[in-house]
Amino acid sequence: MSKSTPKNKESSRSSARRKRDHVDIVLSKDVAFCEKTTGFENIDFIHNALPEIDYKEIDNTTVFLDKKIQAPLLISCMTGGFTRGESINRLLASVCEELSIAMGVGSQRQMLDDAARDKSFRVVREIASNVPLLGNIGAVEVARLTKDEYRIDDFHRLVDAIRADALVVHCNPLQELMQPEGNTNFRGVLDGIALLVEQLHCPIIIKEVGAGISDDVARRVLSVGVKHIDIAGAGGTSWSGIEIIRRKNKTGSTTYWDWGIPTRESLQMVNALRPEYPALQIIASGGINDGVAAAKAIALGADVVGAARVFLEAGVRGGKRSLKKTIHSWIEDIKRVMFLTGVRSVSELQRVPIKDR
Ligand SMILES: Cc1cc2nc3c(=O)[nH]c(=O)nc-3n(C[C@H](O)[C@H](O)[C@H](O)COP(=O)(O)O)c2cc1C
Repeated sequence: MSKSTPKNKESSRSSARRKRDHVDIVLSKDVAFCEKTTGFENIDFIHNALPEIDYKEIDNTTVFLDKKIQAPLLISCMTGGFTRGESINRLLASVCEELSIAMGVGSQRQMLDDAARDKSFRVVREIASNVPLLGNIGAVEVARLTKDEYRIDDFHRLVDAIRADALVVHCNPLQELMQPEGNTNFRGVLDGIALLVEQLHCPIIIKEVGAGISDDVARRVLSVGVKHIDIAGAGGTSWSGIEIIRRKNKTGSTTYWDWGIPTRESLQMVNALRPEYPALQIIASGGINDGVAAAKAIALGADVVGAARVFLEAGVRGGKRSLKKTIHSWIEDIKRVMFLTGVRSVSELQRVPIKDR
């Protein structure tokens, strides 16, 4: 295990401050993409006037990471590691458990440096005890595995602490580049991912944070044995925007605010690799803000749909009831789309035809 040295503890504290700033900024400023959109607004379902099904028989349960969930939904990785982060995690976890959908925790980086930070993460599994739960760590930490700065046991500890069903590795070069204290040494990430795939006892999910995964990147991670990709495309929360606000725009430049591959495009690029990689599981996220958009993402090939900011806002502003109501409305909308396109199951929805508007 990496040691809790004073230097590591300071790094863990600064990481906690950063996580707190992120939540505060997301909840108080407009951090959406300015002009770029997800692309989902340009596609439509083909209405089926003869669905030949009873609405009551529609089943939108699915299996994700070997666990059955009531809808193909995920509250994407966000937080942990500071007091408010813990209470947010408790709220998100209780809703995920009650509605039986999946959840990810925010970056567990602090746990690598300071074991005292574990609690706000552990509590998530105590509450969300039956649903798929995703651990989370940054690509640059994974690269440090290849430089002997961390050991595989450090990563085992992250997974074991929350009995994670998978470990998400967030690949966020844009965010690190825009962050004043960002780490832009991305050398060795793919080798680190390969080591995790080989040696960790759970699946690895490769994820962006809102700039999208291209087919080339997907192919490279699939070639080292990854089977799960969260495309986290552009058009929703702009992490470049958040970091620009955080450093109070000292450079005056907003050039990269809208950088990234729109979610629809990224999803289609990655989904096109399915014939070559039949075991591939795709999580679609990035600006998917309602149930109809989620249904469109599934029709474009996603197995599960994730969202972060809309769920955070619903939960923190309106409390547990409001978050439950929001997620219920997504689930109902997915069902309505299934009815109006004449399909009974999530796997049928994945094959439903869609057209450009
Ligand atoms: C407050 C906040 C904190 C986040 N922290 C993380 C994180 O620690 N790790 C990660 O992989 N993604 C993190 N994300 C990114 C989200 O998981 C997601 O990929 C991104 O926000 C795009 O989705 P959205 O448009 O639905 O917000 C965070 C998002 C928010 C809003």
